[in-house]
Amino acid sequence: MTTASAPGKIILFGEHAVVYGRPAIAVPVRHVRATAEVQPLEAQPRGVIRIESHQIDLSGWMDALDPNHPIRRIVELTLLEVGASDFPALSVDIRSTIPVAGGLGSGAAVSVAVARALSQQLGKPLPNERVNALAFEIEKIHHGNPSGIDNTVVTYDCPVYFRRGQPVGSFPVGKPLTLLVGDTGLSASTATAVEGVRVRWERDRQTFEAIFDSIGVTVDRAREAIVRGENQRLGPLMDHNQELLEAMGVSAPELRRLVWAAREAGARGAKLSGAGGGGNMLALVDETSVDAVAVALRAAGAVSVFPTVVS
Ligand code: MEV
Repeated sequence: MTTASAPGKIILFGEHAVVYGRPAIAVPVRHVRATAEVQPLEAQPRGVIRIESHQIDLSGWMDALDPNHPIRRIVELTLLEVGASDFPALSVDIRSTIPVAGGLGSGAAVSVAVARALSQQLGKPLPNERVNALAFEIEKIHHGNPSGIDNTVVTYDCPVYFRRGQPVGSFPVGKPLTLLVGDTGLSASTATAVEGVRVRWERDRQTFEAIFDSIGVTVDRAREAIVRGENQRLGPLMDHNQELLEAMGVSAPELRRLVWAAREAGARGAKLSGAGGGGNMLALVDETSVDAVAVALRAAGAVSVFPTVVS
């Protein structure tokens, strides 16, 4: 039996603009994970695969799934990648604590966990670079036009400075950052949010390119502050990024409510994280504000609040 897992992720700075070639920063969230367990199935013909995915109530033979089902596709791409054509019957059992459609990279983490566990079980463990490339193919099914940041941070499981088409950059964290992640409880489609931005960008490219440029500058300042351990600089940069996301039209009243509640309770900065429209937001806190901000987020409607430390 082989087990592999991958963490969730949050985008600290630069979502959406990253689709248009600007940089973004994302970090893993290890508090939530997707895990895949692969093992031989007794008394079944060779080559058949049974898939269980508890979070989405999926249980059945792979061949019965829609050919474009993301789990079927990641299994098939992995089999192709490792050149497996004749293998004993297998079961692929997927468990995930990452909320679906919450901006925490659940789809990417499932793809990474499955590609790793299956390739290992078949005796040909894939290197991160290939796992990342396969997971990116599945992100295209989930999201239409993904930048690739979600599968990258989830695969490498470390803070990434990401720019489309460029080698993955990591960076040192000068001083640990404590963030609270607050969930609006609204599920949101990344594909819809990304498509909405594309439509608005088509209508007014000049304005949107200026917004993306400004986000790019914010991301670079944030990286510099993180590396130097100048965490007090990050709050205003998060607030500024939030304003730009608002201007892009990807925020939502529920997100705004949580962002403002966090700031008023003493967070140094707050912003939505991921595609927006719902899903999660982040608040930068310290020891003196963490409890008050958590209480304020719940009072403002967050259905879950958890801390995560970037180090
Ligand atoms: C989604 O987690 C981040 C977006 O920027 C989309 C992407 O980069 O693919 C909204």
